[in-house]
Amino acid sequence: MNIQKVVVIGAGTMGSGIAQWFAQEMCYVELIDNSSEQLQKALSSIHSSWDKLVEKEKLTSCKVSQMKKFLEIKSVENISKDADLVIEAIIENLEVKKELFKKLDQHFEPHTIFASNTSSFPIELMAEVVTKTRKERFLGLHFFNPAPIMKLVEVIKGRDSAPKICEDLYQWFESRKKMPAMCKDSPGFIVNRVARNFYGEPLRIVETEDEVKMKEVDSILKTVGGFKMGPFELMDLIGIDVNYSVTCSVWEAYDKEPRFAPHTLQKKMVDEKRFGRKVKHGFYKYD
Ligand code: NAI
Repeated sequence: MNIQKVVVIGAGTMGSGIAQWFAQEMCYVELIDNSSEQLQKALSSIHSSWDKLVEKEKLTSCKVSQMKKFLEIKSVENISKDADLVIEAIIENLEVKKELFKKLDQHFEPHTIFASNTSSFPIELMAEVVTKTRKERFLGLHFFNPAPIMKLVEVIKGRDSAPKICEDLYQWFESRKKMPAMCKDSPGFIVNRVARNFYGEPLRIVETEDEVKMKEVDSILKTVGGFKMGPFELMDLIGIDVNYSVTCSVWEAYDKEPRFAPHTLQKKMVDEKRFGRKVKHGFYKYD
């Protein structure tokens, strides 16, 4: 497997982290978004995190200036056609994702592999809109937040994904010190299925927005449970909007099984646009 050029579509929380990681691996990366403001924001945040690593002497300035050359932001109209791998990381909305993949299929060369970073939608549903040959080169690559740091990547084999491509990508990630996990194309894959209760149960425990109770639950899960972040802190990091969409989609996929049910508080926060850290206000407030 030779991945030299990667196009990442969606420059939000995940897309910018994924683009950063690939550029650190010395792949040439084009980062795309339909918002030019978001693209600029993502580029300056990636550059500033690299500059901080130089200050901390974790990277040399020479390496960082090389990495900066490997990462370019582009508008949707100017994407090149010859990428080895395209990773979609736009909003968690099945119809919008399908619409995008349909256009991308016509745009990219036949050899380009398509991957979705979806948290919950079946890969086979997105692959429905592409040509037969592309279906074999279509899979899920589910990164975790923050993508440059988190080692796990779920490699999701859709109904028509070529096993060889999934296996080669698995090995490619392994050779670059990620920890890939091969997954079935089932709702929420592995982590997002298990994690539904890590968010759902704490929401049911606190019932209403009571900061003291939320801090208590976060603290217990960190100190006693050994988790790096508590559920309320983690939902704020993921994005309340993203987490809510994923909850709804997994719940629907499992025929509205009560253990996966979204909480009214999640919907309320989405309606109030309290999306978490990215807007500096979620369960907690941020500077
Ligand atoms: P986000 O809301 O931070 O970013 C989404 C970006 O996509 C925005 O910048 C938006 O302008 C852009 N966008 C929307 N429609 C577009 C289109 N048609 N063409 C180009 N750009 C478009 O979302 P986030 O959190 O980065 O999530 C992206 C995907 O990654 C979702 O599928 C989500 O489920 C998945 N994911 C999210 C994780 C998280 O912790 N937030 C973790 C793992 C996966």
